[in-house]
Amino acid sequence: MKNTDRPTPEKSWVLITGASSGFGEEFARQYATKGHSLVLVARRLDRLQSLAEALGRQYRVEVIVEQVDLSDIAAVSQLHQRLRERDIAIDILINNAGHGLQGPFLGAQLDAALAMVQLDVASLTAVTHVFAQDMRARGSGRILLVASLLAYQGVQNFAVYSAAKAYVLRLGEALHRELKRDGVTVSVLCPGMSDTGFAQAAEMKITPTLRLLMMQPSAVVRSGIRALAAGRMSVVPGLSNKAMVLFTWATPRWLHQRFLSYAMNA
Ligand SMILES: NC(=O)c1ccc[n+]([C@@H]2O[C@H](COP(=O)([O-])OP(=O)(O)OC[C@H]3O[C@@H](n4cnc5c(N)ncnc54)[C@H](OP(=O)(O)O)[C@@H]3O)[C@@H](O)[C@H]2O)c1
Repeated sequence: MKNTDRPTPEKSWVLITGASSGFGEEFARQYATKGHSLVLVARRLDRLQSLAEALGRQYRVEVIVEQVDLSDIAAVSQLHQRLRERDIAIDILINNAGHGLQGPFLGAQLDAALAMVQLDVASLTAVTHVFAQDMRARGSGRILLVASLLAYQGVQNFAVYSAAKAYVLRLGEALHRELKRDGVTVSVLCPGMSDTGFAQAAEMKITPTLRLLMMQPSAVVRSGIRALAAGRMSVVPGLSNKAMVLFTWATPRWLHQRFLSYAMNA
């Protein structure tokens, strides 16, 4: 099926990873309002089930729940296989599940850093690979990768996280060009600090500057959905976050690094 012959919303499937809270839950809500069928993926089954029930009831869309620990790459292939067996072709993939970690690089156990790389880098790559292949075969599909504003520079006390998100941004930029000719759109969403469960999960300190810059997930997600629909390579939601990226382009590395490290840690 070519891009010009897209499935109607009520027949098109959106798969959202990390749908049990934060941005993922909001992506589910916003795509449900547009009439899309949903596959919700995360580990917390109770949260996925109550979201699925609420969205199904309110928007009359089909919602499938998949309890998957995405850090297990074999589980990614099994998820793909289960959807295949049910004849579910994913039209839109929201590759959102991710985990942060704040603190000195040497202050945390190596296991914690590697677990983050496994989820934020390896698993995201695997999910993108398996579903992009199907999309390429159909000649149509859309993939949104959720990176971060920290993808634009290494930040003190977020060493592995900012490096992992830089990978996501670079992967998305490269795939945007590479898969375009196959009818597959790839976009990257780079949110700044937002009011989700993320900071708590990452044991993150919310500094006064971060509180000032904090965005609501609904606005971030709207901006990601719009950018993906428009076929943009990447998007930074919010004026102050955009200003931050301009600042990194316009100033020497030592200056913007020092500023962001201060804003994230002070
Ligand atoms: N909030 C921010 O300030 C911010 C800023 C920039 C970028 N981001 C990025 O936005 C994305 C979403 O984060 P969020 O802010 O919405 O945080 P969140 O509320 O903590 O959501 C994270 C989601 O990822 C899922 N997840 C975590 N580990 C998983 C695993 N092993 N297998 C499957 N699912 C897993 C969680 O579900 P379960 O625990 O149920 O598995 C949850 O649904 C992340 O990639 C994050 O890096 C967030």
